[in-house]
Amino acid sequence: MLAQFREFCQNLSSRLLFSVGLTLQKMGSTIRQKRIEPDTQRDQYQKSVEQTSDQIRIKELEDRLAGAEKKYDAIFNNIPNPVFVLDITTLDVLDCNESVKAVYGYARDEVISRPFLNLFFEEEKEYYAFKLRTASLLHHVRHITGDNTSLLVNIRISASEYPGKKVLLVTTSDETKRLEQEQQIVQASKMATLGEMATGIAHELNQPLSVIKTASNFFMKKINHQEPIPEEILLTLSREIDSHVDRATRIINHMRQFGRKSENTSAKIQVNDILKSAFEIFSQQLKVRGIDVLWELEEDIPCVMADANRLEQVFINLLLNARDAIDEKYNDQRLSKNMGRITLKTSADTKNVGIVVSDTGIGIPVDKLNKIFDPFFTTKTVGKGTGLGLSITYSIVREYQGNIRAVNNDDGGATFIITFPRVPEDSP
Ligand SMILES: Nc1ncnc2c1ncn2[C@@H]1O[C@H](COP(=O)(O)OP(=O)(O)OP(=O)(O)O)[C@@H](O)[C@H]1O
Ligand SMILES: [Mg+2]
Repeated sequence: MLAQFREFCQNLSSRLLFSVGLTLQKMGSTIRQKRIEPDTQRDQYQKSVEQTSDQIRIKELEDRLAGAEKKYDAIFNNIPNPVFVLDITTLDVLDCNESVKAVYGYARDEVISRPFLNLFFEEEKEYYAFKLRTASLLHHVRHITGDNTSLLVNIRISASEYPGKKVLLVTTSDETKRLEQEQQIVQASKMATLGEMATGIAHELNQPLSVIKTASNFFMKKINHQEPIPEEILLTLSREIDSHVDRATRIINHMRQFGRKSENTSAKIQVNDILKSAFEIFSQQLKVRGIDVLWELEEDIPCVMADANRLEQVFINLLLNARDAIDEKYNDQRLSKNMGRITLKTSADTKNVGIVVSDTGIGIPVDKLNKIFDPFFTTKTVGKGTGLGLSITYSIVREYQGNIRAVNNDDGGATFIITFPRVPEDSP
């Protein structure tokens, strides 16, 4: 929040400074024009007095202008964020501040009069050439520094005027460190989730293993008794073994993939697929607890831009919370009555794709509704919850320009509603 506010102020100050700079330049040219205005019919003496006082005034104004220009330069160059002034047609850099050197390692003359797109990766140049002219804010863009390392930056773009030219005023802010730290927290919480899910995964793996064990026992028994195995039975059991080995492999691969550190990339993805794959990891856990899952997925739902692995973590966090809320409400009685239910719903309108995760658990006390997304807020006992699940969920959702909110259901339980902007159909 603080970082966003600081960035907002920096962006605002760079724009203000830019317009102050333009005003100063205009003042300068007015003064210079005034200096060469031709004399007309005035009396020579009066004229020379006027001229002298004019000259004094001009000199004063020039001094003030030079002072103000100096001040403007000092402030412009001391803005901690790199600021670039770009030609709107060619996207060449017309001017930039000193922070470019500190952040990117390029001296000003290595950047000025060269294409701004030189800072981008070759394969992304065309895409960002379009985006720079049409968007006002770009998130997590990869830039190349002077020593060939890459930075992840947010870019703010606004149209402005430079003497005689339409320009783009571009401010970048280096997000690399913040994203790395965030990634470490996300990774730590993912590991905690994996640990918590270990029992469920054991259940998931137990099923294929016991099928394989039964089949192999059958084979051994037949061989020990020197009894022939009918070909049809042999084929059926081999097929069973084969498909259960595939299932176990799929579960293990899925866990491996989920545990992997995800990159901060985003691609076009289908939320239905991710929801199904998040559910797959612990369907067995829910079954064991007698929790039903109701699916209401919209078919052929439009894509959203996100990272599949991170989005899966969002859904797993919500499913784990729903599971805990149901557990807490029904305790042991639930298993017999089979009363817990989680509803998973997706839908789309002209702008957004929506995902709804609803449960029949304890619900959220009204005075806690605005706290649940805070880091470390938990109502669970020590060792059961860290209170990071929803705060990480919130930051992942926001990272992909989505929104998340929680409401209580009229008939008990809580509902989490997420929306993401849908990707236009013609988008590459
Ligand atoms: N579906 C839900 N129903 C009722 N309360 C909920 C639900 N989801 C979250 N909460 C409340 O919000 C709190 C914060 O949730 P969050 O996922 O951030 O942390 P946690 O589940 O307590 O711990 P962690 O997820 O780190 O293991 C929970 O402790 C709980 O009080
Ligand atoms: Mg949680």
